[in-house]
Amino acid sequence: MNDHHEYIDKKRSEFLKGSLNEMDIEADPFVQFETWLKQALDAEVPELQAMQLCTVYDNKPSSRIVYLRKMANNKFWFYGNYNSKKGKSIEQNPNACLNFFWPELQRQVRIEGTVKKATPDNSDNYFNSRPRESQIGAWASAQSNLISTRDELEKKLQEITEKFECQPVLRPDFWGGWVFKASYYEFWQGRKSRLHDRICYDFKNDVWDRYRLAP
Ligand SMILES: Cc1cc2nc3c(=O)[nH]c(=O)nc-3n(C[C@H](O)[C@H](O)[C@H](O)COP(=O)(O)O)c2cc1C
Repeated sequence: MNDHHEYIDKKRSEFLKGSLNEMDIEADPFVQFETWLKQALDAEVPELQAMQLCTVYDNKPSSRIVYLRKMANNKFWFYGNYNSKKGKSIEQNPNACLNFFWPELQRQVRIEGTVKKATPDNSDNYFNSRPRESQIGAWASAQSNLISTRDELEKKLQEITEKFECQPVLRPDFWGGWVFKASYYEFWQGRKSRLHDRICYDFKNDVWDRYRLAP
């Protein structure tokens, strides 16, 4: 089957790799997430820390992939340019959603919550841990702004490289981290005949309420 139109029309996957039931799942969704992330690592899922981040600006949603870099206690850290589209969206509307898809395990996790900027210390620590080329790249790219040619970007990169020659590259003010705080999780496990398992956790009145949704 070489035709991509035919492929997307006809391709049917069977989901038989696992199940998710109330007896086995953790009471704390963050612990459950850690368990699944570890299993994704053991299953050698490529790019397992790549997550879709959905934000809203002027009532219009947009999404993109970013890397999860740190997590603790229902908080998830990611990094980028504060003047980018996502940066402006988060500034205007802190509500956001994350989505992980780990096809090798036939699993998806949706997490809803709110985002704010990470502390300058956290951003500095992460920035300082990056390879020098990425640090220079952060200065050179006005992420999500219009540029006329690729050349313009390369020139900027050259300029910044020269500027920081023989000295450490400091974090620009316009670049840093965000921390996403989860208030809702949905764990999805593919099952036979599209009768998938979906178990959700909703943080209400200081406790995680847990329930199952129809697939
Ligand atoms: C696998 C992958 C990982 C990425 N990781 C990041 C990241 O950690 N931070 C980031 O700002 N952009 C990352 N990007 C680029 C974003 O998807 C996006 O193009 C960029 O952040 C600009 O998005 P925006 O205009 O919506 O702000 C990644 C893209 C891919 C495909």
